[in-house]
Amino acid sequence: MDFENRTAVVTGAASGIGLGMAEALLERGMRVVMADVEEAPLMQEAERLEQSNFAVLPVVTDVTSNASMDQLFERAVDAFEKVHVVCNNAGVGGAPGTLWGTSEEAWAWVMGVNFEGVLKGIRRFVPHMIEHGEPSHIVNTSSIAGLTTGGGSIYGISKHAVTRLSEGLFFDLANQAPHIGVTCLCPGIIDTRIFDSDRNSPADLPELEAIRGLGKRIEGMRTYFRTQGMAPRQVGEIVAQAIEERRFYCFTQDEFAPIIASRFESIMAGTNPVLPGPAPSTFTNDKGRN
Ligand SMILES: NC(=O)c1ccc[n+]([C@@H]2O[C@H](COP(=O)([O-])OP(=O)(O)OC[C@H]3O[C@@H](n4cnc5c(N)ncnc54)[C@H](O)[C@@H]3O)[C@@H](O)[C@H]2O)c1
Repeated sequence: MDFENRTAVVTGAASGIGLGMAEALLERGMRVVMADVEEAPLMQEAERLEQSNFAVLPVVTDVTSNASMDQLFERAVDAFEKVHVVCNNAGVGGAPGTLWGTSEEAWAWVMGVNFEGVLKGIRRFVPHMIEHGEPSHIVNTSSIAGLTTGGGSIYGISKHAVTRLSEGLFFDLANQAPHIGVTCLCPGIIDTRIFDSDRNSPADLPELEAIRGLGKRIEGMRTYFRTQGMAPRQVGEIVAQAIEERRFYCFTQDEFAPIIASRFESIMAGTNPVLPGPAPSTFTNDKGRN
């Protein structure tokens, strides 16, 4: 699709992958509505981009709220009339614990942001894209965790839901509105603030202390993401290319392919689920940092 003078809406645009996608789309001549729940960094990043003469509109948005998503839609259409690309990307890292031991509040928070936030974005913007009829695209941020198996983490479950929802959207649009493409972004290891997701959690989340304690205990993981993780701006480039090519699955690091394959091999062989091997320690393909 042609990006020049078209409009994109990106959720979770104040940080990490969302910011990287916003920058890549701005570089291609798009106007970008930057939506995020965190006002201060949102305004700061929007101002920085505005100073470089990019056309941005920051809108403080909580993707878990219907009223807030309605307002995002109104602000985008009031400012730019038509929206052509929506990146449903806002996400949080989840909460530790078993399926039965995790609080209702944690389920509501993680599923609310990671899954329902994506669904709300689709329900708000797809009818508009169908109505204006111009080439359009939806990008949903899933994860490698949305394709692999493992213990019952809410995060993994929310991302599997995003993958399946995106495939459903792909078929529905191919059938009813083929001018709208779909990309399911499955990032691997990206250097972002995902480990600080508690900054946006409900203040009374029962798992808050556990999440914060976990943050300290998994310092090695933080270092891994910081040193081996792909730069978010590079993810933005990969996503922009996937939109151009109307590519559905969008990966950042090829090293995860065997881990994904092992799940499907086990399904095909009819064996019980097998835990994937450890995540790759370094990335050597041309999409990685090394
Ligand atoms: N970092 C990785 O390695 C990685 C890997 C796979 C998938 N992802 C996914 O990428 C997406 C972006 O995360 P990131 O890694 O850039 O982390 P990040 O924390 O840097 O960015 C996430 C953004 O989402 C915003 N956000 C959180 N809750 C929100 C809400 N209710 N409404 C609106 N905005 C909200 C945050 O304020 C933040 O700006 C997430 O969906 C995440 O699950 C990340």
